[in-house]
Amino acid sequence: MTASSALVLGGAGGIGAAVSRRLARTHAVAIGYLNHPERAESLAVEILADGGVVALVKSDATTEEGVVAAFDAAEALGPLGVVVHCVGGWDFPRITEITQETIDASLALNLRSALLALREAARRVADGGRVVLLSSVAAALAPTRHSTYAAAKAGLEAAARVTAKEVAARGITVNVVRPGATDTAMLRETTSPRAIDAMAGSNAMRRLGTPDDVAGAVLMLCGEEAGWVTGAVVDATGGLR
Ligand SMILES: NC(=O)c1ccc[n+]([C@@H]2O[C@H](COP(=O)([O-])OP(=O)(O)OC[C@H]3O[C@@H](n4cnc5c(N)ncnc54)[C@H](OP(=O)(O)O)[C@@H]3O)[C@@H](O)[C@H]2O)c1
Repeated sequence: MTASSALVLGGAGGIGAAVSRRLARTHAVAIGYLNHPERAESLAVEILADGGVVALVKSDATTEEGVVAAFDAAEALGPLGVVVHCVGGWDFPRITEITQETIDASLALNLRSALLALREAARRVADGGRVVLLSSVAAALAPTRHSTYAAAKAGLEAAARVTAKEVAARGITVNVVRPGATDTAMLRETTSPRAIDAMAGSNAMRRLGTPDDVAGAVLMLCGEEAGWVTGAVVDATGGLR
């Protein structure tokens, strides 16, 4: 069934690929990627083998042209019903170590890309559509060494709530999923095994989240039943408090 198209920005990454796979069961899916073409290509092969419809779009989501190109690719597959923004990334500077360059890079990746995606979604998503963005529990917990990332994700959450109000009259919902530590290559590459163990032990489920755990929360908000949920920030942390 491909009733409408879906766009997943950052759709071939750890969490993004889990979202894209699930959306491809019901939608023609455009998948945005940039630095890892091999991940995008193997995901596309998988989706096609399962009978799905997929378009890959290599574009920089921190730029206006890049975001517009991704939306163009999605609209070429049919009326745009769902947009999921999974673009993001972190580093761990102490506040004494941040520079104008590191601040700008983090804000561009985590916040500017989200604002541009919200703008295009508000312009192009069909009435009754669904928009979901990935924040991070860092926005709420403000852990040490996360100043720019936490600030950017908090900004993303605020922008999503504003947009939810601006598009509500058209039945479009805009929500945020706030994952806790999730077992992706990005987490493994940037975080020590000791810190990962500590994070895995700190939620009620006593384990790391999986990309599929987080994708489940995203898909819940993309469903028809979620039409009365908008401007919400949903924790997907396994019960982290
Ligand atoms: N894993 C966690 O523990 C965790 C926890 C809380 C929140 N999150 C959030 O969840 C989201 C996904 O994270 P992940 O763990 O799945 O890591 P990931 O695989 O590195 O996902 C990041 C995605 O962003 C894309 N991307 C990066 N720079 C881009 C750019 N300039 N233009 C377009 N796309 C770009 C990447 O695509 P390419 O690789 O092709 O460039 C990738 O698909 C992020 O927003 C992250 O902040 C993750």
